[in-house]
Amino acid sequence: MPVKKIAVIPGDGTGPEVIREGLKVLEAVSKKFSIKYETQIFSFGGEYYLKNKIPMPEGAIDELKGFDAIYLGAIGHPKVKPGILEQGILLKLRFGLDQYINLRPVKLYNDSFCPLKDKTSADIDFVVVRENSEGLYKGMGEFINKGKKDEVAKQISYNTRQGVERCIRYAFEYTKKRNLRKKLTLCGKTNVLTYAWDLWERTFNEVAKDYPDITTDYAHVDATCMWMVKNPEWFDVIVTDNMFGDIITDLGAMIQGGMGIAAGGNINPFGVSMFEPIGGSAPKYTDKNVINPLAAICALGMLLEELKELKAAQAVENAVIKIVQTKLKSLAAGRMGFSTSEVGDLVVDNL
Ligand code: IPM
Ligand code: MN
Repeated sequence: MPVKKIAVIPGDGTGPEVIREGLKVLEAVSKKFSIKYETQIFSFGGEYYLKNKIPMPEGAIDELKGFDAIYLGAIGHPKVKPGILEQGILLKLRFGLDQYINLRPVKLYNDSFCPLKDKTSADIDFVVVRENSEGLYKGMGEFINKGKKDEVAKQISYNTRQGVERCIRYAFEYTKKRNLRKKLTLCGKTNVLTYAWDLWERTFNEVAKDYPDITTDYAHVDATCMWMVKNPEWFDVIVTDNMFGDIITDLGAMIQGGMGIAAGGNINPFGVSMFEPIGGSAPKYTDKNVINPLAAICALGMLLEELKELKAAQAVENAVIKIVQTKLKSLAAGRMGFSTSEVGDLVVDNL
């Protein structure tokens, strides 16, 4: 078996702490399943930016293309103006490596951590396929008469047929492979955003013809939020654009028990993918050993799956499920009943 090369970007705030636990789990699970890997640390983030005045060194993207996967902690530093690191690192990596899918599972592992009354783990188990390379995130727009009374700010949602289609095809394939309820819901806003969502809906309906076994559905994004709270059990896989996907996956994280457990993968099915906890750098908890590392550990599980280490990925998820069901008092920082490093140890012990 060739050695897997994993690039590690611990990043800012609590990022390094949660990544440390993830790497601990990687080491243990690799021993168990004889996975050979090597890691290389890239210290991009707020500190790097403050020192060097650029978010990432020249050539970073090309260097990262030589890896099998990227493991990312968190980006965001209190001393750096919001937007600089997000755009200069996170979005730059997603776009530069053409990670056009953001895959975000929403799965409840312990009923008592769900804020929804009367909902159980049987009800909350779906996956959001978020388009990750276009839409409002493209950064297109302009100011007209900036700073004047008649100022106009335009922010354009840019959607290409190719970009939309590759995302929708991925979602259909994923729904098929997942093989649960075989239902794919398009989440959009066809009643107002009549250009973008016309393209999305037409593409969705055309691609659907290639997947007669998949049930299709459509929900406006506002209604999707409502259903996620009222009837989350209706969802199997949801496909949506970049902005809506960003928003509904924070809601998804809450119904699965919080940011402490929510993980995601930025996927380029033909290139290098990057896995991360979906929450931020949580500066106020930095270096206190109280942050929940499970989101990062779940992200590691997804990374292993992408590397086709399916048994190892399953073992990581099973260990997480076990401790979430039997050990942790809460998934929130500081209230788990264990420290960050103890939670990492518990996962290792339960592998
Ligand atoms: C996420 C984050 C990012 C996004 C930010 C940090 C740019 O919120 O990964 O969901 O909006 O995509
Ligand atoms: Mn977000």
